[in-house]
Amino acid sequence: MSIEKRAFRDAMGCFATGICVASASAADGKPVGVTVNSFSSVSLDPPLVLFCIDRKAESAPAFQQAAGFALSILAEDQKEISANFAVAPMATRWDGMPMAIWESGAPVLTGGLATLDCALHAVHDGGDHLIIVGRVLRLESRAGSPLLYYRGAYTTLV
Ligand SMILES: Cc1cc2nc3c(=O)[nH]c(=O)nc-3n(C[C@H](O)[C@H](O)[C@H](O)COP(=O)(O)O)c2cc1C
Repeated sequence: MSIEKRAFRDAMGCFATGICVASASAADGKPVGVTVNSFSSVSLDPPLVLFCIDRKAESAPAFQQAAGFALSILAEDQKEISANFAVAPMATRWDGMPMAIWESGAPVLTGGLATLDCALHAVHDGGDHLIIVGRVLRLESRAGSPLLYYRGAYTTLV
């Protein structure tokens, strides 16, 4: 059975997710960041996480080449940050955004519900995406409610 793209998207949209900003340093040292909802915890020991990046994304080479990357899990009041890292030109995405450098050397978007700094562990084939796996080096989390994505739209916990 061949799967039609719209049907695939509609079915996947039934799986409610949180939203992250994944970030890394490009080869020229400039920070890249991209909104992703393909995040998952993978392993507790060692502590591994993953997200998937479109092979055609401007930021894809950075996630493959950098020694590490960061993930910021967004809070319910960070919808504008999610939109910014999905659609703004890469050159201006970090304008006005709180950034820090932790262990991995990647730019870390601070202020989220949780923030993970990772060493690149593996890059796997994922069809038209790359599966980026990281080993968590440092993390922080705080109280609050998450920003959610469901059926192609932002939502929050009721
Ligand atoms: C809620 C949401 C979730 C997204 N999830 C992903 C994802 O998991 N992987 C991905 O490659 N792009 C995802 N995107 C699209 C990217 O954020 C967007 O295409 C981005 O601009 C591509 O990065 P680039 O600027 O490096 O090309 C998502 C967008 C939104 C709004």
